[in-house]
Amino acid sequence: MVRKGIVLAGGAGSRLRPATLAVSKQLLPVYDRPMVYYPLALLMEAGIRDILLIAAPDQMPLYRQLLGTGDGFGVKLSYRAQAKPLDLPDAFRVGASFVGREPVCLALGDNVMFGRSLAKTLKHAARMEDGARIFVRRVPDARPFGTVAFGTDGRPRRLVEKPTAKKPGDAVPGIYFFGPDVVAKARRLQPSARGELEITDLLRTYLERGALSVDRLPRDVAWFDMGTPDSLLDAARAIRDRERTRGDKVACPEVIAWRQGWLSPTALRRRADALVGTEYGRYLARCAAAHR
Ligand code: G1P
Repeated sequence: MVRKGIVLAGGAGSRLRPATLAVSKQLLPVYDRPMVYYPLALLMEAGIRDILLIAAPDQMPLYRQLLGTGDGFGVKLSYRAQAKPLDLPDAFRVGASFVGREPVCLALGDNVMFGRSLAKTLKHAARMEDGARIFVRRVPDARPFGTVAFGTDGRPRRLVEKPTAKKPGDAVPGIYFFGPDVVAKARRLQPSARGELEITDLLRTYLERGALSVDRLPRDVAWFDMGTPDSLLDAARAIRDRERTRGDKVACPEVIAWRQGWLSPTALRRRADALVGTEYGRYLARCAAAHR
């Protein structure tokens, strides 16, 4: 069972400059809340309450101010600074002592997912103890992503990071489940031809020993990776449209905590009061009231 999670809020956010010149990308708003709420919500949907947030040293005070100890979200948050905006597998080097000897889920700080069957899908994935587990989603142009190619038997055969040809492919979203050996494996990784430690190389070590399991993201789950102004706006619009149509909110950490029984209706009410005058606050208040 995966009980530990890492949110990696690293990277230079270079494709989002000048918006990211002073603040980290994962603190930018996506519709009505900071981007980092979404990966936090993903881990929480998976049933994970012990969470490490990794970010650049100068951004740490901002994350602490925003998220605190995690109390307001019914989780336990720890923080660790990543000295340089290095590559994704670096999360397991920085977070080695946090992971210890347990399986762990890594959520990239710029990935948004929502949809009816998401919680079920993540909870199921979190039942693993070892190996690695990832998802794929068919995309029309796979160049911005890590991809999986499947053999005729339907098994994963090849992993490619950022393919060069503009072609459809099975892209890997930024949520990864690993057994406890991931720390040792990440430490042994060598930089790729483009000089980076690649998550795809880390996954390949599992693929090679038949320990990589790959599931398709269910159709009703929307996924956005927010690296550019357009993808940020697309995600924000999709969230707003979804929430307007349904009259509720998606990926709302406080409400996930309350549904899991990690936050009492009174604590939820307190969060709502702190956000009075906003639709987000009203939604929390409605949930808290519905419970009485
Ligand atoms: C990273 C990974 C890539 C993955 C993607 C998902 O790319 O390297 O394999 O598909 O996240 O969001 P990045 O978005 O950091 O360029």
